Amino acid sequence: MSEITDILKQFSTQFNTDAVRIFTKPNGVEKRVIEAMEYAVMNGGKRLRPYLLCESASLFGVDYTTAFPAAVSLEMLHSYSLVHDDLPAMDNDDLRRGKPTCHKKYDEATAILAGDGLLTHAFEYLSKSLQIRPEIRLTLIQLLSEAAGAFGGMVAGQPLDLYAQPTDNQQENEQIIKRLEEMKTGRLLRYACEAGAVLGQAPIAERQALITYARRIGQAFQIADDILDREGDQNLVGKTLHKDDAQQKLTYVSYLGIEPARRLARQLVDEAIAALSVFDHKADHLRLLAHYIVDRKY
Ligand code: IPE
Ligand code: IPE
Ligand code: MG
Ligand code: MG
Ligand code: MG
Repeated sequence: MSEITDILKQFSTQFNTDAVRIFTKPNGVEKRVIEAMEYAVMNGGKRLRPYLLCESASLFGVDYTTAFPAAVSLEMLHSYSLVHDDLPAMDNDDLRRGKPTCHKKYDEATAILAGDGLLTHAFEYLSKSLQIRPEIRLTLIQLLSEAAGAFGGMVAGQPLDLYAQPTDNQQENEQIIKRLEEMKTGRLLRYACEAGAVLGQAPIAERQALITYARRIGQAFQIADDILDREGDQNLVGKTLHKDDAQQKLTYVSYLGIEPARRLARQLVDEAIAALSVFDHKADHLRLLAHYIVDRKY
């Protein structure tokens, strides 16, 4: 655990140094929106998705500098999703990454615009990244838009999260939770790993192995998020806790209970690691990361 924590910390330091350069401020009134965009990206965050992307790419010999535009555009998009997720009309949260949420720090209109700006800039930045070959860039843009969008992507998961009600039919509940998690959380994590394979022009079997790994850790990641909401330490998690029960969310924890949810998460980690068997020791960091995802305290 401490090894992967150190690796992630080291990665974040480099990533943050490179990412902050994106937010050059103009003098006009739009300056406030760009400041809010910078705040939303640079206010901490584990950088799991960019790390996964760069680490997956490195399996195929792609270096950090080449993978960075894909990684930072994904983190911009993820950060936008958090800004909008926290808005009063959605989860209504005041705390994110241990700091005031974007709409608390600025105001609601600025937070909405900052989210719009991050979503758009993610694609602008990726499309202009000349170190990635044009046909690979186009594939990444297509995959990222699918993963983020309303047709089976992250946006499609959010209304399910907001409005899904538990029914008396347990099978139905399980299906709803799976779909919800797969779209709202799973798709961006899957994109992170798949983008690494695309950047590295990986053979199909290895790309598929990374997708399977990503699906399993994605599910385990959301279970861990739900467990942390129920019984985490707020000072470490950096979000207001016990919100899922208060807002009657249908989660793995509300559906299964804490211990079965924990067991399922561990089983998924084992399955994720098994999927990496096509790779040798090169994938050891991804193996460690799978454990980190469920053992993390924030
Ligand atoms: C939180 O994601 C949102 C979910 C998909 C559950 P992270 O836990 O990766 O958030 P940061 O980026 O580290 O703040
Ligand atoms: C958020 O899921 C997933 C997104 C698409 C942003 P949650 O609502 O569970 O994430 P947290 O707990 O607020 O980070
Ligand atoms: Mg939410
Ligand atoms: Mg939320
Ligand atoms: Mg949550």
